[in-house]
Amino acid sequence: MAFSLSPEREEQVEEILTRYPERRAALLPVLWLCQRQKGWISPDVVDYVSGRLGLSTAVVKGVVTFYTMFFDEPVGENVVWVCRTLSCDLRGGKVIQEHLEKKLGCTAGHTSSDGRFTLLKAECLAACGQAPMVQINDYYYENLDTELLDRILDAHATKGAEAAAAEFSTFATFASSRQSPGVSKSSAPPPPSKEAVRLASQPPSAAGPTNAGGDES
Ligand code: FES
Repeated sequence: MAFSLSPEREEQVEEILTRYPERRAALLPVLWLCQRQKGWISPDVVDYVSGRLGLSTAVVKGVVTFYTMFFDEPVGENVVWVCRTLSCDLRGGKVIQEHLEKKLGCTAGHTSSDGRFTLLKAECLAACGQAPMVQINDYYYENLDTELLDRILDAHATKGAEAAAAEFSTFATFASSRQSPGVSKSSAPPPPSKEAVRLASQPPSAAGPTNAGGDES
């Protein structure tokens, strides 16, 4: 059966479309809504988004495969991103990754056999001052050690993501407050600023510098 969004999410799509002068500009938030519903961007989701926004499937697939926030294959109930960039590595990022692999029984890039967790490596997630850190679903967990991480993962497995974040709120930060683009679980992304809309409406020559490479003489 072809993919379709729930009525509530369809309403959100309609609202998102009012924010942009061109439908293609809504591609990221619409994909995000679809992933929220299905868990990943399957071929039927690509077809749906392509038809909804009047874009080719190649364009939609190109965006999906460009951004690591979109999954082009199924993932577990929870997605754990372990940061392996310098600040986290200096503070034990490798130990955190190895501990996760041992605890979840799968290496980075794979899903645990019970389908509960997918483990992925991330480049810097902009929380260097609280290294080492991981992102689990929508939340950052910072200043970690292996004992704390075990407790956080156990809470995710037994109580769910939101309850785990509430229980460990001292260490948890909602990811979209740090990252862009981000959409909270319950709401669509904030509207673009008037200046952004104005610039998007202008032809390229008026919106920004031209021929910065200077190959004309
Ligand atoms: S290096 Fe891990 S958050 Fe920046």
